[in-house]
Amino acid sequence: MNDTTPKPILILGGTGKTGRRLAERLTAQGLPVRIGSRSGTPRFDWEVRATWGPAMHGVSAVYISYYPDLAVPGAAEVIGAFARLAVQNGITRLVLLSGRGEAEAQRAEEMVKASGADWTILRCAWFSQNFSEGFLVEPLLEGEVALPVGNVGEPFVDADDIADAAFAVLTEPGHVGQLYALTGPRLLSFADAVAEIGKAAGRDIRFVRISHEEFTAAVGAHELPAEFAWLLNELFTEVLDGRNESLTDGVQRVLGRQPRDFFAYATATAATGIWSN
Ligand SMILES: NC(=O)c1ccc[n+]([C@@H]2O[C@H](COP(=O)([O-])OP(=O)(O)OC[C@H]3O[C@@H](n4cnc5c(N)ncnc54)[C@H](OP(=O)(O)O)[C@@H]3O)[C@@H](O)[C@H]2O)c1
Repeated sequence: MNDTTPKPILILGGTGKTGRRLAERLTAQGLPVRIGSRSGTPRFDWEVRATWGPAMHGVSAVYISYYPDLAVPGAAEVIGAFARLAVQNGITRLVLLSGRGEAEAQRAEEMVKASGADWTILRCAWFSQNFSEGFLVEPLLEGEVALPVGNVGEPFVDADDIADAAFAVLTEPGHVGQLYALTGPRLLSFADAVAEIGKAAGRDIRFVRISHEEFTAAVGAHELPAEFAWLLNELFTEVLDGRNESLTDGVQRVLGRQPRDFFAYATATAATGIWSN
């Protein structure tokens, strides 16, 4: 008897910013998903390679969202090893969530391309949701965001647009071998972004530029791991140096519509109360 049950799509980082949204979209269309994370069944852990094979067993495709960040040295080798194992296991469709202007992320892209899989790359700007689903929530609540970044413009992209794009490339033909650079529709400095959140939330929230040393000390004072300070300093130094100060048409190319503006994100997110004391 033929088994006609569709195979699930494995979503790595399936409880994170983009993976959770992609899982919701696929599930809403009745498509089976498997969450790939340390809380998934079976458990998937990037740091425990023995968990990779069982997590990918019997799936049709994988959405690869790496953790903590593709900017971490060695991430490309890990992605390459994962992609090769997937192809060995007969999984040919891989979608990589990547980052703009990050040398290590671009190396990871090359690893996926070289794996022999049918690949699609979503090369993304900074997510708007870093302000509401990440380390910036606490300083926003406290009324002051202090970061080692100046007046550089970043085209923050909405995680809902990334999830819409991931859904489209996984469910429609025509996206194999495509690299889509996904940005929002407008360049904002971090000071601009914080000001727009303050306006949307009806609160006075300040932005302060600090040095990398001050930032590292502040991260340490919050008892966050030193690697976290390293990663953020790396991103603020290497990526936010003006190299990404441009808009792309990736959202338009995949979805046939404009990306969501940061102020729309800020307004809708403020309404959830997350930035209100
Ligand atoms: N954030 C941005 O602005 C941005 C921009 C461009 C590209 N990216 C790329 O997007 C990727 C995801 O970043 P994100 O900030 O959006 O993170 P995220 O997806 O929100 O991260 C959390 C997810 O990672 C899982 N996770 C944590 N540790 C794990 C481990 N050891 N093994 C397996 N899964 C683990 C978590 O689930 P469990 O806790 O259940 O394990 C959760 O599903 C990164 O590779 C980054 O380079 C991010």
